Amino acid sequence: FSLCFDLCIAESYVLDDKVGLGRTFDGIGGLSGGGATSRLLVNYAEPYRSQILDYLFKPNFGASLHILKVEIGGDAQTTDGTEPSHMHYENDENFFRGYEWWLMREAKKRNPNITLIVGNICLPWAFPGWVGHGKNWPYDFPDITASYVVSWILGAKHYHDLNIDYVGIWNERNFDSKYIKLLRYTLDKSGLERVRIIASDNLWQPITYSLCVDQELAEAVDVIGAHYPGTTTVIEALKTQKKLWSSEDYSTFNDEVGGGCWARILNQNYVNGLMTATISWNLVASYYEDLPFGRDGLMTAEEPWTGNYVVESPIWITAHTTQFSQPGWTYLQTVGHLVHGGSYVALTDSNGNLTVVIETMVSIYLPVHYISDGSFTLSLDVDEVYTLTTISTGLKGTYPDPPTSGPFPKVYFDDFNVANPSFSEAPDFADQTGVFEYYINLTDPGPHVFTLRQVVTQMPVTWATDADQTISIIGDYKWQNLTVTCDVFMETVKTGGVFIAARVDKGGQSVRSAKGVFFWVFADGSYKVTNDLVGKTVLAEGLSGTRAYGWHTLTLTVEGQYATGLLNGYPLWKDAVVLGPKNGWAAIGTHSFELAQFDNFAVEAK
Ligand code: GAL
Ligand code: CA
Repeated sequence: FSLCFDLCIAESYVLDDKVGLGRTFDGIGGLSGGGATSRLLVNYAEPYRSQILDYLFKPNFGASLHILKVEIGGDAQTTDGTEPSHMHYENDENFFRGYEWWLMREAKKRNPNITLIVGNICLPWAFPGWVGHGKNWPYDFPDITASYVVSWILGAKHYHDLNIDYVGIWNERNFDSKYIKLLRYTLDKSGLERVRIIASDNLWQPITYSLCVDQELAEAVDVIGAHYPGTTTVIEALKTQKKLWSSEDYSTFNDEVGGGCWARILNQNYVNGLMTATISWNLVASYYEDLPFGRDGLMTAEEPWTGNYVVESPIWITAHTTQFSQPGWTYLQTVGHLVHGGSYVALTDSNGNLTVVIETMVSIYLPVHYISDGSFTLSLDVDEVYTLTTISTGLKGTYPDPPTSGPFPKVYFDDFNVANPSFSEAPDFADQTGVFEYYINLTDPGPHVFTLRQVVTQMPVTWATDADQTISIIGDYKWQNLTVTCDVFMETVKTGGVFIAARVDKGGQSVRSAKGVFFWVFADGSYKVTNDLVGKTVLAEGLSGTRAYGWHTLTLTVEGQYATGLLNGYPLWKDAVVLGPKNGWAAIGTHSFELAQFDNFAVEAK
């Protein structure tokens, strides 16, 4: 194998297995979660939703991913929203919340191997508050944390027939050796010996050091997973003989430049760091683009209201490796850098097949000449990826163009009247603190049998800084002048409180400092209008006569610099002066971590 470049000044690169093979390839994957990155995907109509899933998971079609990593929802904000826990409360268990179960099933449907080879990885970012017994720390009661995590894995099998292959510790936070050993013990005791442990989803150190000095820990951990390793590892990690993975990587805007970064990462994580799996944060950008890290996914699917999605370049970059080599193949030892930038890797199935992936992500012209037994010549351009392979099943899958892109509908209404919802969350609501679920009031004599309910009653063991209030956003970030209406029902006497809002300007990790126009009513019979979620800047306040356990209709109109509020259709306050923000999402929420219900949510935007 030789490359000749720059007016044919010969540079040769030898590919050879005489020196022995390299490490076993474990696959390329995407990460759904950390957090709520697939939120809008579930709300796509068919056939678009299936098409998106095909581009991600269907073998020999698009990204053809080998690995799906998901968040174990912990009811807390984990970057672009919260994901629901399977145990909101200590005595609660429900394995049908959120969309990660569904996503894992869809991936498996398309590629049964996804659960056989490397397949499914799960990792908590946050935990419900009860796991920490009220402390913002999951290791004081390690037995509780271990059985909480193991119950998720058991539920995956029991309710969805999903095998989880790897489980992690606590995303990018401290690990605890005692907890890791107890997790191993709890897995084994539960018949989950085959589930392997990855640690610590942070830097190479200090986990590597701990593995070196603690034999029992080294036996419990199978893979060292590092995040954003910048393609390199440390010598001590190599010496452990453990598998080394980039268990979270990429996090880059998914245009052509992002695709180039991804190509370089995929090759050089092995060339420089001997990492044998790489997982993209995130799998698919399916969250409002104005939330943090908009479009940092392998592809974009952020418009369920139109059905528009975009197959971005990282999908095809991924295909260059995934369609032509499989987990279980082996890297050759002869991998490396091209002298003038770029890199090459070679993989074999040890059965006569060979795949070479070359990336030339440098801005120099690089014509290349390839010679071997059956010699041939090809020219390579700069900033490209080439796969040379004996595999003939690769395909650039395609579907007819999806519908054209368009804004969130200006007129929107949801009465939440769904008897058997396929998902626990109502379309397009993106929870930023707390969890809002479909709810059935079996005892309600009136029109509010089916509602949306906020269900988190305690500050979780957090990963980001959740707000002290709960909030779910919806709509178009560009909205300025609009009317939001919603029926609200407090379930906390005296201290309860709920709001509807417009022009909410922040979510994700910045949700605590969100500004907007917030119209609150409280169970003590008062109301407030504030300019911020924390409720410090008060624009109006007074008596409302509102109470818990009764339905009230709130209406908020924002027009230019003025806001007006109605209670049950009658004016309650008017002409509050709003100097900013100029635009933002609509929202609903509660004053604290408390139960409350919402019904007949409506928006009319101008
Ligand atoms: C990672 C984190 C992800 C996401 C990402 C954004 O550190 O694990 O959840 O926040 O950063 O770049
Ligand atoms: Ca209803």
